[in-house]
Order: sequence, then C-alpha cells, then structure tokens
Amino acid sequence: METLGERFQRETKYRRGERPVASRILSHPDEFKRYPNVPLIRLPTPPLEEGTGIWEAMLRRRSVRSFLSAEIPLEALARLAWSIGAVRERSYGSLFRVVPSAGALYPVETYIMVNRVKGLEPGVYHLYIPDFSLELVVSGDKSKTLAHAALDQEMIAQASAAFIWTAMIDRSRIKYGERAFRYVYLDAGHMGQNLYLSATAMGLGCCTIGAFFDDEVNSVLELDGIQETVIYMGVVGIPAI
Ligand SMILES: Cc1cc2nc3c(=O)[nH]c(=O)nc-3n(C[C@H](O)[C@H](O)[C@H](O)COP(=O)(O)O)c2cc1C
Repeated sequence: METLGERFQRETKYRRGERPVASRILSHPDEFKRYPNVPLIRLPTPPLEEGTGIWEAMLRRRSVRSFLSAEIPLEALARLAWSIGAVRERSYGSLFRVVPSAGALYPVETYIMVNRVKGLEPGVYHLYIPDFSLELVVSGDKSKTLAHAALDQEMIAQASAAFIWTAMIDRSRIKYGERAFRYVYLDAGHMGQNLYLSATAMGLGCCTIGAFFDDEVNSVLELDGIQETVIYMGVVGIPAI
C-alpha cells in the first residue's frame, strides 16, 4: 500500500518526454506581499566586512536551545534579516536575493516575532523585501503563544526573536504545478541555513524548528493556511551557555 508521502514523491517526479504541468491558477499571485496602510520600518543595511569567516561559522554552527533573557541590537536583527532577504541584483524583472529560489519565484515569506530587540516593540513583523523593511502586522508579546503552538518548545519564549517562514505556494505552482511543494521546502531550507550561519557569525545562538501545530501558528500570523501557510521557523538569541 503506497503511503501519502510515496504517492506525493511519485506524482511530482519529472519524467523524460513529459512536460511539467503548471497549475491552472486563475489570478497571477503578487511577487511580494505588502500590508496596506502599515508603515515601513527601514532596517539598517549591515556592513559586510565584520564577523566570523564563513568556514569557521560553518564549523561552529550548532543548534542552541537555551537563551539569556536579553535584548539583541537592531543591527543584529538587520543582519539576520539581510542573510535571508537581501536583494543582490535586479535583472530579468526579478529581485535576485542572497538565497537561491527555484525559478527565482521566491514563494517563501519571512515574518519575525520580536521578543527582545532594542528599538522594536514586541510583535510580529513581516519582512518587506523591496525596501528591506519591516511591517508590524500583529502587536504585542506573542512569544508564549508561539512557544505553545510549537509543541511547548520553551526556547521560543526565551529567544530574542523567532523567524517564521510561510509558503505562498501559488507563486511557484503557477510554473511548476504540484512539484512546487518540493521546491518551497528546499527554498526554506536555504533560508534556515543562512539564519544559522549569520547568527553564528555574530556569536548568537540559533535553532530551526519544524515541530509546530500549523493552524495555531497560522492563527498567530492571521493567515488562512491555504493561500499562505507556515512551513518552518528559527529562533535566535544570546546563548545561555
Ligand atoms: C527541518 C528541521 C527541523 C527541526 N526542528 C526542530 C525542532 O522542532 N526542535 C528542535 O529542538 N530542533 C529542531 N531542529 C534542529 C535539529 O534537531 C538539529 O539540527 C540536529 O539535532 C543536529 O544538531 P545541530 O544543528 O546542532 O548540528 C530541526 C532541524 C531541521 C533541519
């Protein structure tokens, strides 16, 4: 008996001689998500020359799950956000970023649950890519709600910030059909590794998270779970040890 996962793998295979089937999506999804009437909070562009070298950061990277209840500077948050969403160049009508994405379609959105960041009130912010800016979309301390939604993983309430990645699958599905479901997770994986490496390079701790009750996290972000749904998370803070 074929399992759901095995069937998914089989039905989303590319086969020689067959053209990939794009989904029949009626309206073309927006390239970027922008919350109407929400002011943009511009993040500082980080200088590139500071921090641990890439090889050492790879070697030192590990999952850290215990954090001090301390603030991180806004510049540190900006560096973390930069490593995930900075635009490298504009060409062929797309904004190419520091992370790769299948077909340069960038179906993964980034939200940041701010718990302890100097100069930012607690809440959930959305990263608006074209202006390297944050939009405050949910006000107030959501750290305990989010920790509870992530199977009571305490590190989320302790961390200075939690990155939450969501999939706007139609952006990719319009080209790749159901195979897009493979690609969104791969895209998010690259973002997770960049978060680990940039946190490590600054002496911060990081742990990515795949265990959560999807609907509960979606409701914190006020998402419908279909057009857009949570797929991955990652916490960052000052290591307790
Ligand atoms: C897709 C994915 C999901 C993960 N989910 C969790 C999680 O929910 N909770 C957790 O404590 N660690 C989680 N981790 C971290 C792994 O447990 C960790 O990477 C692994 O134990 C290897 O240890 P290292 O990262 O220190 O090398 C996740 C890692 C990945 C890549």
